[in-house]
Amino acid sequence: MASSIHQFLCSAILFSLLSQSFAQQSFRPKALVVPVTQDSATLQYVTQIKQRTPQVPINLVVDLGGQFLWVDCDQNYVSSSYRPARCGSALCSLARAGGCGDCFSGPRPGCNNNTCGVTPDNTVTRTATGGELATDVVSVNSTNGSNPGREVSVPRFLFSCAPTFLLQGLASGVAGMAGLGRTRIAFPSQFASSFSFNRKFAICLTSPAPSKGVIIFGDGPYNFLPNIQLTSQSLTFTPLFINPVSTASAFSQGEPSAEYFIGVKSIRISDKTVPLNATLLSIDSQGKGGTKISTVNPYTVLESSIFNAVTTAFINEAAAMNITRVASVAPFDACFSTDKHFQHTSRGCCANYLSGSAE
Ligand SMILES: *[C@@H]1O[C@H](CO)[C@@H](O)[C@H](O)[C@H]1NC(C)=O
Ligand SMILES: *[C@@H]1O[C@H](CO)[C@@H](O)[C@H](O)[C@H]1NC(C)=O
Ligand SMILES: *[C@@H]1O[C@H](CO)[C@@H](O)[C@H](O)[C@H]1NC(C)=O
Ligand SMILES: *[C@@H]1O[C@H](CO)[C@@H](O)[C@H](O)[C@H]1NC(C)=O
Ligand SMILES: *[C@@H]1O[C@H](CO)[C@@H](O)[C@H](O)[C@H]1NC(C)=O
Repeated sequence: MASSIHQFLCSAILFSLLSQSFAQQSFRPKALVVPVTQDSATLQYVTQIKQRTPQVPINLVVDLGGQFLWVDCDQNYVSSSYRPARCGSALCSLARAGGCGDCFSGPRPGCNNNTCGVTPDNTVTRTATGGELATDVVSVNSTNGSNPGREVSVPRFLFSCAPTFLLQGLASGVAGMAGLGRTRIAFPSQFASSFSFNRKFAICLTSPAPSKGVIIFGDGPYNFLPNIQLTSQSLTFTPLFINPVSTASAFSQGEPSAEYFIGVKSIRISDKTVPLNATLLSIDSQGKGGTKISTVNPYTVLESSIFNAVTTAFINEAAAMNITRVASVAPFDACFSTDKHFQHTSRGCCANYLSGSAE
């Protein structure tokens, strides 16, 4: 019963340093930047990096709690720098990649003999499958905190190949998902170890295009338009919790979750604490409960009893303030007129049907 919060998130998430180095670079950027836009059809956040030789731009759905980069290798994957990870290699252990496989319809990217495999996960549809672990060149822009700088490359960026069907349910035009989770092969770890900066990143998400967000990997200060500087002084901090049980669609026993959990203790509406079963707010021994931050759920998802309590409290508070309830606007159920209370929008919704299902 995980709940997730992702709206207009503009937060820096802090990590500890990782020592392993993947690549030596002569130019050492302090930080890297990638763009983020919101796809209006699916409300997924989409970023772009460059990969392969010759280099091509690829669009990826941003998955904050995702374990690693996975890419469709069955369609249009042409690269002279593609290297499958050999069974038993250090790359396989770094990726916790078990097993050793052969493939009979190759050789081609995603289908080679004597390689280890991982489990790429489409966290939107909660579908996972097997995929060959491999490396290839990944390029992104560096930044000095304010302006994009020169392009930098990680020559052997670890990722997983996936079959084309795993893209079902993702924004159109994407080739896979970019995992930013707490593993040693997610984007923050690989970039930090390649360029020897702190395993730290900031993510600024915006509403649908044309507005643009960014993800910055590496040390701040982080500067955003218009003239906003995010520093340790201007940020609010909250501890991150580790869920000891994996939340992936498929996993082996004993694996912790790669997702980011925070410690929500109560929910207040109009300064009144909503009555709810507080046990659900902490992660239990089976890994259920707690609050995670997610970029793949289009709306906040609440466990059913919490959802009902929040909806009831909101309806009561709105009535007390003479806010008129109006017809539902799918997927939302409880919607209110904002005529008297806000200047710009004509309707506001607080709750939706999708969120009512228990997760
Ligand atoms: C893998 O090895 C088998 C023989 O053991 C061979 O038939 C097959 O073509 C090889 N596949 C690739 C992708 O090299
Ligand atoms: C770096 O930024 C430039 C200018 O915005 C852009 O044209 C280029 O594609 C970017 N490179 C990468 C690797 O994203
Ligand atoms: C970043 O680079 C831009 C353009 O190259 C420069 O104007 C600016 O002063 C630099 N900012 C920092 C914080 O170094
Ligand atoms: C609160 O939730 C926990 C976990 O689901 C459950 O075991 C417990 O019975 C609930 N308590 C109440 C008072 O409903
Ligand atoms: C709500 O409307 C009633 C009746 O018109 C009025 O007496 C009351 O003061 C209003 N309350 C607020 C909070 O505006």
